[in-house]
Amino acid sequence: MFTRTRRLRNSKLLREIVRNVRLSIDELIYPIFVEEGENIREEISSMPGQFRFSLDRLAPELDELKSLGIKTLLVFGIPKHKDPIGSEAYNPNGIVQQAVRFIKKNYPNFLVITDVCMCEYTSHGHCGILEGCDVQNDSTIKYIAQIAVSHVEAGADIVAPSDMMDGRILAIREALDEKGFINTPIMAYSVKYASNYYGPFRDAADSAPSFGDRKTYQMDYRSSKEYYREVEADIEEGADFIMVKPALAYLDVIKAVENISLPLVAYNVSGEYSMVKAAALNGWINEQGIVMENMYALKRAGVELIITYHAKDIATWVKNGE
Ligand code: PBG
Ligand code: ZN
Repeated sequence: MFTRTRRLRNSKLLREIVRNVRLSIDELIYPIFVEEGENIREEISSMPGQFRFSLDRLAPELDELKSLGIKTLLVFGIPKHKDPIGSEAYNPNGIVQQAVRFIKKNYPNFLVITDVCMCEYTSHGHCGILEGCDVQNDSTIKYIAQIAVSHVEAGADIVAPSDMMDGRILAIREALDEKGFINTPIMAYSVKYASNYYGPFRDAADSAPSFGDRKTYQMDYRSSKEYYREVEADIEEGADFIMVKPALAYLDVIKAVENISLPLVAYNVSGEYSMVKAAALNGWINEQGIVMENMYALKRAGVELIITYHAKDIATWVKNGE
């Protein structure tokens, strides 16, 4: 027998040097939920370990993130007031705009990404402007561009549109450039499926559609072709990052686009998190083992960055020598 694959697995030291996929804290992006109001630090019941914070209680969380070495945040806002045109989403004093100003002023070393969408702000819970029951594409992207500009004016380093309207990347790029923000990158939620894995997030952000679903704008998971068009369109329109979302059920998609010339991001979404968490809390799985295995699966498939609710846990484990 000449081939003994076990030769290279024979000691811990040897395994350390032959493994070729690595994971660094620098590659993790942590989502935070900021809610309008006071004295709020409320655990999200469907996402154990994740909280909604009001601004006055955000500092201790940011201190912890900082001490764990987490560098990049993705900010979501939960407004008090919702209306059909999502006015609070582009209010210069809206919750996300206030949160970004607070973070950039007091914690200037965080890289702040904002989620740009309307569903947390509309009374109907859809990601755009309605005409009847129809989400209007071309009028929505004007609002989306306005939201992005207001986030960047508040100090956001990167904007991440998650609405899935056609032409939004170009609309945002033009709006930002016109205001002089030529160097602010756009992280496009390019390949975003109409997924059941967003369920816990919609509890967290109070953003479930009040009727129907998002299938006319988010992608159909039964197609293995349309992701090429989404990625092509976003690159052409000027995206700076390409995202695939959800992550683990879509490793084939990640693998297929891993060689694009832009940084590739996976969003390990709420349902993926909650499934692991629920099993772990029941003692059915080894949480650390499962989470690390999932992260390495994404790295192996070819992503540069991972947005994950597990980021704090991972940072803690890595700190303690994984
Ligand atoms: C808003 C948005 C959603 C997520 C990120 N941005 C929900 C949705 O599209 O319904 C999902 C995040 C998660 O599940 O963790 N459009
Ligand atoms: Zn949305």
